[in-house]
Amino acid sequence: MTQLARFILGLLAALALLTWAVSGVVQTTTHEWFERDVSAHAQLAMVSATRSMADAWYDPDGLQKRLVAIDRNQHVIGVAACNADLTTRSMTPDLPEDFHCRAVGVWVRAAGTAAGDENPKLREWSTIATLPTGRVYVAAMPVVSQGQALGFVILAHDLSYIERREARAQTFLLVVFGALAILAFGVPLLVARRVRHDWSMEVRKLLRKGGKQPREFQPILGDVRELIARMADEREDLPGQWTAERLRQILNRNLHGEKIVILANREPYSHIRGEDGRIEVQHPASGLVTALEPIMRACSGVWVAHGSGNADRETVDRNDHVRVPPEEESYHIRRVWLSEEEQQGHYYGFSNEGLWPLCHIAHTRPTFRAEDWAYYQKVNQKFSDAVCEEVDSEDPIILVEDYHFALAPAMIRKRLPSATIIAFWHIPWPNAERMGICPWHNELLEGLLGSSIIGFHTQLHCNNFLDSVDRYLETRRDREQNAVIMHGQKTLVRPYPIALEWPVRWAEMAPDPAACRVQVWKDLGLKPDALLGLGVDRLDYTKGIEERLLAVEMLLERYPKYRGRFTFVQLAEPSRTKIERYRELNEAVERLAKRINERFGTAEYQPIILLRSHHEPPEVFRYYRAADLCYVSSLHDGMNLVAKEFVAARIDLEGVLILSEFTGAAQELTEALIVNPYDLVKSSDAMAVALGMPEEERRDRMQSMRSMIGRFNVYRWAGKMLVDAAYLRNQERLSGRLAEHLPVSTNL
Ligand code: G6P
Repeated sequence: MTQLARFILGLLAALALLTWAVSGVVQTTTHEWFERDVSAHAQLAMVSATRSMADAWYDPDGLQKRLVAIDRNQHVIGVAACNADLTTRSMTPDLPEDFHCRAVGVWVRAAGTAAGDENPKLREWSTIATLPTGRVYVAAMPVVSQGQALGFVILAHDLSYIERREARAQTFLLVVFGALAILAFGVPLLVARRVRHDWSMEVRKLLRKGGKQPREFQPILGDVRELIARMADEREDLPGQWTAERLRQILNRNLHGEKIVILANREPYSHIRGEDGRIEVQHPASGLVTALEPIMRACSGVWVAHGSGNADRETVDRNDHVRVPPEEESYHIRRVWLSEEEQQGHYYGFSNEGLWPLCHIAHTRPTFRAEDWAYYQKVNQKFSDAVCEEVDSEDPIILVEDYHFALAPAMIRKRLPSATIIAFWHIPWPNAERMGICPWHNELLEGLLGSSIIGFHTQLHCNNFLDSVDRYLETRRDREQNAVIMHGQKTLVRPYPIALEWPVRWAEMAPDPAACRVQVWKDLGLKPDALLGLGVDRLDYTKGIEERLLAVEMLLERYPKYRGRFTFVQLAEPSRTKIERYRELNEAVERLAKRINERFGTAEYQPIILLRSHHEPPEVFRYYRAADLCYVSSLHDGMNLVAKEFVAARIDLEGVLILSEFTGAAQELTEALIVNPYDLVKSSDAMAVALGMPEEERRDRMQSMRSMIGRFNVYRWAGKMLVDAAYLRNQERLSGRLAEHLPVSTNL
């Protein structure tokens, strides 16, 4: 029920109550008036009747005539003349039996005779009686002649007409009150509606027209715009679970079922020929792939990526396509081939020695070389061309992923002006000052602004991006929509925290936690009462692996009870190994693990187990399910999906997550133990807290995080972006249509 309806109902109830109370008072008052009126009238009639009857008392005909004359009055029911001994002298025929001389005489005598009096006297008497026909006023009065009582007269007066009058008066009252109520509430309501209508027309005009607004409207227009933006933000947040099916429906309903083209450097499946000569399919370790692969399975389309597997060329068709996922094919990968030099310049050089350290606060100096930049441009063009070959309409939906392709949105836009291009930056965006370190920051920003939407994990990264645009480019900012307008092209800049599919396929397929624990204990040779900590990462300096191992060392140093009992296993996927810094890291981690093992290890016990190789998801999920704690210690991370995967794996609600405050995930998984990974003492304390945490608290925290990642899953992430894209697309179509019909000078 709306607030207005509730208000009107309340008013009507109050009005009904008021009318009821007033009509009660009025009824009592009118009733008294009428009765008093009737008795006065009857008394008068009686006085004159008794007088005239005294004269005719001994003349039966005359007496009868007088009675009949009185009876003619329409309200008189009957009249009688009675002797003093209570016998009837004369009577009209309609006088009810209850009021005949004998019956009434008893009262007339009683009224005049005191107790013990032997000579009964007659006195005036009256009452109101209720008969089946209605109420009756009965009065009796002695007839006196020359001081002697001859008898008495009875007069019965009809009172039922009083009730009829009262009913009429009440109806009249209700009608008057009703009319007054309608006037009292209806008129102001109509006036208010009119005012509201005029006011909203004025606001609409102003919102449409833009430009200068009257001062009194400025605050309200700001509020209205903010509200519209918020509604636009939340309009897809319909209650209920986000699923692959729901995402498909969004795509069909809002974007007319067009297929999706994803551009990402890393492919979701690579073909690797092993030492035994057999080709195997591998799932590369990449948060980007983890998140986007379920989206592709749900929506179908093409994933354009670098063909990086050593058997990739052998597995494509003549259009460089391969259908995936193996055995449940629903989309295809378009592989793009890069020469050694292109890979070196684009992937290792500009992307991973330049942009990667630039965007992460992890103390590795970014290196920008002119030749890498040239390859970055060339490879961006190559991939953009491949994307344009894959689309099947003039206005396709294209998702451009990550820092490898900052120039692609503008390049694609040039060839496909009506495309909906959604760029997502999976890593942090630095502040404007730091962005200025890159000699080609303007080109990167302009390239990204070819997109319809640019997404980041957090609002902070959006703000950093917008600050960079403000600082380095000549653009217009639409602060209400959080958009940038460059050369008439609008780009929304929004936070969309990335997530996992739900339920997570690998968690569904994994053995139960007890079985996983048995297997992992066996694989690692752990004692039955061992406690297990886990880290899962690519070997990357942003992940804080060294700090993590140092925190383990600190734990064993400060909490001796865990020596010989607590083991930390690190699954470390070698990554970007052609880059010097990554090789250094690999060696540093190895040295560190060795040192800690020498310090606290024994012949049967190793505190650190380093597993440096590629691990396929089933194995990773086995470890997630077996561990007592998982420590994600990134020094800086856009989101970090390992944290979310650990939570997704724990169907048993066991295990504790320790999470770096410098990850995007820390903003969402607030029930994790949040730490500063540089603070080794506090981090080791957090591990001790995790190992000693009561079962109930562990379960509560895990339950709460699981419900968060179930609700805010990757289908919602993609759905939100697609809904925003559809909204923008409609807006542009509308304004395009309007522009066709408006004079050229109109500034839209
Ligand atoms: C990060 C990046 C991804 C990348 C992944 C793995 O998550 O944001 O784009 O795919 O690291 O790195 P790699 O260089 O092996 O693709």
